Amino acid sequence: MPSETLQSIAQKLVANYKGLLAADESVPTATKRLESIGLESTEETRRQYRNLFLTTEGIENYISGVILFEETLGQSDSHGTPFVELLQQKGIIPGIKVDKGAVEKNDYPGEKFTEGLDGLAKRFQEYYALGARFSKWRAIITIGDSLPTDHCIEENAKSLASYAALAQAAGIVPVIEPEVLITGDHDIKRSEEVTTQTVKTTFDELKKNNVDLSATILKTSMVISGDKCPTQATSEEIGAATVRFLKNSVPDDVPGVVFLSGGQTGVQATENLNAVHKFNPGPWQVSFSYARALQGDPLKVWAGQAANIPAAQTEFIKRMKGVHAANQGQYTAEMEN
Ligand code: G3H
Repeated sequence: MPSETLQSIAQKLVANYKGLLAADESVPTATKRLESIGLESTEETRRQYRNLFLTTEGIENYISGVILFEETLGQSDSHGTPFVELLQQKGIIPGIKVDKGAVEKNDYPGEKFTEGLDGLAKRFQEYYALGARFSKWRAIITIGDSLPTDHCIEENAKSLASYAALAQAAGIVPVIEPEVLITGDHDIKRSEEVTTQTVKTTFDELKKNNVDLSATILKTSMVISGDKCPTQATSEEIGAATVRFLKNSVPDDVPGVVFLSGGQTGVQATENLNAVHKFNPGPWQVSFSYARALQGDPLKVWAGQAANIPAAQTEFIKRMKGVHAANQGQYTAEMEN
């Protein structure tokens, strides 16, 4: 038996209050992020963006795994060390986003269906050879008038299950991410209903596909009010509803649950993670897998200027310290000073 089993990798991803950095924005999304600071998106500026975060000293104290985008998997830091090697040297597990994005279908207006299963078994072999030991597939569920449809939840659950089975067959831990979007005027109660139905359906499909749940990580949205809901739930309500949803939907043998930030600010995503931990989630380990909530503030500080790199990395460390403390229920507002 290899010393690193799928189970041991999955457990390591959520151990010691550490979590995942989602540095896996696709080229169009990375372009949006870079344009927001006035930088043209090129292969080189995207490499610099990744370099900013991945070379931050001490990142390994907070981050157990980094989800990379395919382009980054083959890139190197500014001294020529491949990013994958750099992460391995720090004891961080490299991961890879493998879905090919989501598309609409004529009969299901307003909903999205994730693609990327064609040729995935072969891609997994290549990613493994490049050092990836875990992966991510994101499905998108939208709440709206008469949305989501059962069809959208079920089809996305089936794709997540097929993906997870292929990942495990290739020796790669699957992170399954059915994201219920924060956009809309729905209240927290509706968010809880939809998130519960989505995650339950996903685990049903995983079981049908004989996916080993003890080597699977769930990446989910928190249960939270829609961003246009007139009555915004408090952190305490978010913590209580999120833990209730997890207990109602996630099988005990899953080793870890990680949250996406989904449009929450860095501070909100940290406060809400802290609130979740106040309600004693378990038996699984519960952590973060944030992109914007960890990288958004440092990105603004960086602004594409080499002279700002130290200050941006200091800001990144602050955000990582916050979520690491939140995983212990010990985050306080003073940590922002
Ligand atoms: O798929 C979404 C990302 O992995 C998480 O991004 O934290 O900005 O929502 P986010």
